Parts: sequence; C-alpha cells; structure tokens
Amino acid sequence: MKSQWGVLSRRLSIGGARPTAHHGWRCQSCRGGQTRRKPFSTTAAVRDSDRDGDGKPYYVTTPIFYVNAAPHVGHLYSMVIADVLKRWKVLKGERSFLSTGTDEHGMKVQRAAELQDVQPTALCDANSEIFRDLARRADISNDCFIRTTDPAHREAVEHFWARLREGGHIYETKHEGWYCVGDETFYSDKMVEKRVSPQTGKPFTASIETGNAVEWTEERNYHFRLTAFREPMLRFYADNPNWVAPSSRFAEVIDWVSNHLEDLSVSRPASRLSWGIPVPDDPSQTIYVWVDALINYITVTGYPGWQQGTGAWPADVHVVGKDILRFHAVYWPALLMAVDLALPRRILSHGHWLMERQKMSKSTGNVVNPFGAIDRWDTDVLRYFLVYHGSVANDANYDNGLILDLAKKGLQRGLGNLLNRIVGPKLWDVSYAVAKMTGDEDRPGLAFLRLPASVDAHKARVEAITDKVQAHMDELDPTGALKEIMELIFETNKFVQETSPWVAAGTGRKRETDLIVFYAAESLRVAGILLQPFMPNKANELLDRLGVSRETPRRSFAFARLQADNAYGKSLIETGKGAWKSLFPPFKVSD
Ligand code: MSP
Repeated sequence: MKSQWGVLSRRLSIGGARPTAHHGWRCQSCRGGQTRRKPFSTTAAVRDSDRDGDGKPYYVTTPIFYVNAAPHVGHLYSMVIADVLKRWKVLKGERSFLSTGTDEHGMKVQRAAELQDVQPTALCDANSEIFRDLARRADISNDCFIRTTDPAHREAVEHFWARLREGGHIYETKHEGWYCVGDETFYSDKMVEKRVSPQTGKPFTASIETGNAVEWTEERNYHFRLTAFREPMLRFYADNPNWVAPSSRFAEVIDWVSNHLEDLSVSRPASRLSWGIPVPDDPSQTIYVWVDALINYITVTGYPGWQQGTGAWPADVHVVGKDILRFHAVYWPALLMAVDLALPRRILSHGHWLMERQKMSKSTGNVVNPFGAIDRWDTDVLRYFLVYHGSVANDANYDNGLILDLAKKGLQRGLGNLLNRIVGPKLWDVSYAVAKMTGDEDRPGLAFLRLPASVDAHKARVEAITDKVQAHMDELDPTGALKEIMELIFETNKFVQETSPWVAAGTGRKRETDLIVFYAAESLRVAGILLQPFMPNKANELLDRLGVSRETPRRSFAFARLQADNAYGKSLIETGKGAWKSLFPPFKVSD
C-alpha cells in the first residue's frame, strides 16, 4: 500500500474538505492492521471549528523523557508548559487530555546501564519512577504516563513499522555517517566539525548544533524514504502557517526541509543496539529510538486498536524544546503521512533554560534538581517563575536570586499584598460591597452608575483582561498570558494606593469605599480564576480567601468576567493574621 498523501494533498484544495481523519480513532476498520482513512485537507491539522461535537478531547503532549539520568528543571519546564495548556482548556470547560512519560530505549540508556553495571530494565524502572514522581510533585495533571517499554507501545511500534514496510517506505542500505549517542541523532558531514575539549585538550568531532561528540558509523541498516515527502511537507507547511510556534523556528524547519533533507536511518544493527524494539521479521536490527519514541503519542490514544483509546488523536499541541523540534516537525509528520494518519494540529517549541549562559543539561552537569527547587520555593512559586521568566522564543537564565526577586515582586508584594489589602481590613465588608454593586433580581446594582474617572479606567482594565489572556493562550503563549494577568495585579495595587479606600472609609464616604473595594475585589477574583492553570494551588487558595464559591461554575472561565459573580466576599477558610499566614509567606531562604 503506497501512501495516499502525495496524491491527496495535491488533489484537495486549500481549506477545502471538512477534516475527517481525526474521526479515525473510532473507525472500526482501523483494527487489525488497516490504517486507511478518508482523505483530508492539508489545512485540517489546525482547524478548530470542526472539533466541537466530534467527541475528541483537546490533546496535549509533553516529550517523553530519557531515563539515562535524573530529571532537571529543563524537563520540568516542558511538563509545566504542557500542563498550563491543558488546564487552560479545562478552565474553559473543554475535555482535555495530557500525556507524558519516559523514553527508555536506545544507545543512551543502554550505555548508561552499562556504565552503572545494571540491567537496562532496572535502570528504566528506577528512573521512570522519578519522572512520574516529578509530575506528581509539580502538580502536572497528566492523564497517562507512558513508558516505551510498555507492551502496548511495542505492539504499536511493530504495527507502525509493518505499515511503513507495506507502503514501500523503507529500504535496506549501507549507512556511513556520524552518530551522536547524547543526541540519539545521525548527522551528515556538513553537520559536524572538529573541536578541542576544554577539559582534556583532546580533539574530537562534534555536532555543530549541540556540541556533543559524534562517532563514525558504518553499518547496514534500514532507511525511511524521507525525501519522498519533501513536496507534501512543504505544501503542508504552506497551508498551515501557524503550525509551529514561534514562527522563527518554523522558518528554520522549512529551510531544513527545503535544503537539507536526506533519507533517515531508522534502525541500528542489534549487535550495537540491543536495548530497543527489534525490527519485525529482522531481529538482527533494532528500531531507531526516535521512531520508537514518536509513536508514543499515538500509542496512548489506543493505536493501533483506536477504539479502546481515549479518542484523542490527532494531538492538538505537541510541546517540545527547540532541540527536538526537527524530530517533531519533520520526521514525525513524514512518518504519519507515510501511514496515512492525521498530523498533529500544532507544535509549540520552547527555549532552553541556561545556567550561566550554557544550556542546562545532564551531559554538562550544570543541572538544577527540580525536587530541590520545589522544596525550596514551593511548587506554585516555581511554576510561576518558570512560566513568567521562561520563554517560548528565547532562552532564559535560571537564577535563584531572580526567582526570589520575581516572587517577592509579583507574588508577595503583588498578589498576596493586594489580597490582604482587600480582604484584611475591618473598615469594609467585601461581600456587602459585592452585593451592593452587582445587585440581584429585585434590585439593580450600583455598578451601572457613572463612575469617577479613576474607577472607570480600572473597570475597563478588568473588562479587557480575559480577552487579552485568551488571545495569548490561543497563540500558545502562556508567558504572555501570565504577564498580562500580573500586569492587572500591579495596576490594581496602584489603583488601590491612589484611590485609598481606607481614607474614604475613615471619613464615612461609604459608597466610594464600596466602589473601590468592589473593583479591586473583581480584579482579584477574575485574576484568581485565570491564574488556576498556572498556579493551581495558590489560585484556589486566593479564591477561597476571597470567598468565591467552590461550586462549579463559579471558578470557571465563564465567570472570569466583570460582575459575573454577585455573591462572594466571605473567606471560605480560616486565614489568621501575620506574614506567615499570608498567601505567599516569607521564603525560607534569602539568597
Ligand atoms: N526523549 C527525547 C524526547 C522524545 S519525544 C518523542 C528527549 N528527551 S530529553 O529528556 O532529553 O528532553 C525532554 C525535554 O526536556 C525536551 O523538550 C527538551 O527540550 C527539554 N529540555 C532538556 N533540557 C532543557 C533545558 N535546558 N531547557 C529547557 N528544556 C530542555 O529529548
């Protein structure tokens, strides 16, 4: 069976046929080896409008993590970004599905096991558990945790390989080239250079991209006809200009496909790589770890049985670091096209965390232990820092001094202080101000009255915030969204400072006091709702302290609108007094 992709993508007009491929997970005919599905337009991958009613949850993925060493903060970042995207959809009332897991095969893991003189299975079992634990500790709301050593995954990979073989997409040949175990990547001559190790002074050959050492390999192995997909892929990219965010990275992908595409080695001799999934019908070869790993995204949706999965494929967003974009934006779509499966709808490629301007990485050893960072800062504070200071487009420096500064400014002096200022004083009663301003069925609220200019300006800010945040999230820009929410908090603090409700209250100007308190409380309530995907625990504690009902839908996206809630203001929890009782107590460390 040859791939239908090339023919179809030429035949269908841009924006033409309604996408049908994502219904495929329910398709009974897909069982038992048939992966044929109906044709679909090349724009289908990014069209949201068809999603309603198809029963498909919004599906977000993290990369699956190598288990050769323990996790670091860079790994946590991929998890947190994906989690924020998932939680955002949940906030909006959509069904959503988040997958994560561990990538356990390949040379890297095989060598790590050899070095530690343990069986690969033992290494994988132990380290996979650490990643699973990290997801728990960081409040990642993953719905599954896949391990590539799971039998169901092996079945999926074997099935996928058989489809590639059947379609004539794989051939056997002699391979000569460079292989980097650290990157689990083949490189051509043009992609490597001679370097001198700063530690030993010895020359070595390194990947230009990553700086990691490469080794020369000459072997017979299987190749995937990647170059056959150059034109269909370029057409797909052209039809889906937002497929990869940020656009600068997408341009690199397109350039690479246009100018550097080569067929891809997709197996290694088992004599060299034994820790992996054997090629079906040829156990002398082991499937290349990246082909194995990418398939995880469909294994968790039930491939190849589909009917028993979650029905989530295609993924709505693959979250990946920029170092692994090529695998996701070039190899993965080509492999999917080859077996006529739907392509992921979008890819979010994020920047790296640096330590003193160098990429945080296990091989360099300059890593921050994420468990230590969570203990030190608290999960939500760390999540806040990673999203606020991290960047999709650029790299960012990890620095404890900066975490302290940003947490003090944004969380203690910003959010925590504003909350104390509004719910703390006995000079007013927030629930009374809310009732008075919003009114009820019998009595219109006072909020419709003409407002003083300062209050009016602030009201406009609260009215605008939700759409602004939503626009950032639609662009897959959680950092922009979080900064927008924090800007509202900073502005609200200024508003409270300038309008001084304590002066108005002290001089008996009751209506003015209630007006100010109400609009400041509304900022907190709306911000608190919108902050839930970013800091799930602290945002809920904020809403508890503000007395926003825990009953659905009071904390949902629909209520993140000015005057949407007319009954809150009495704290749901015992809060007490003093800095240690505030939403963000003083940090245990001061460096
Ligand atoms: N196993 C592959 C992914 C296979 S997905 C089908 C892999 N694993 S990894 O453990 O090396 O990296 C996992 C994720 O962590 C990637 O998104 C990678 O970009 C991210 N990070 C690793 N180091 C990082 C930083 N220093 N900063 C930010 N993220 C980085 O690649």
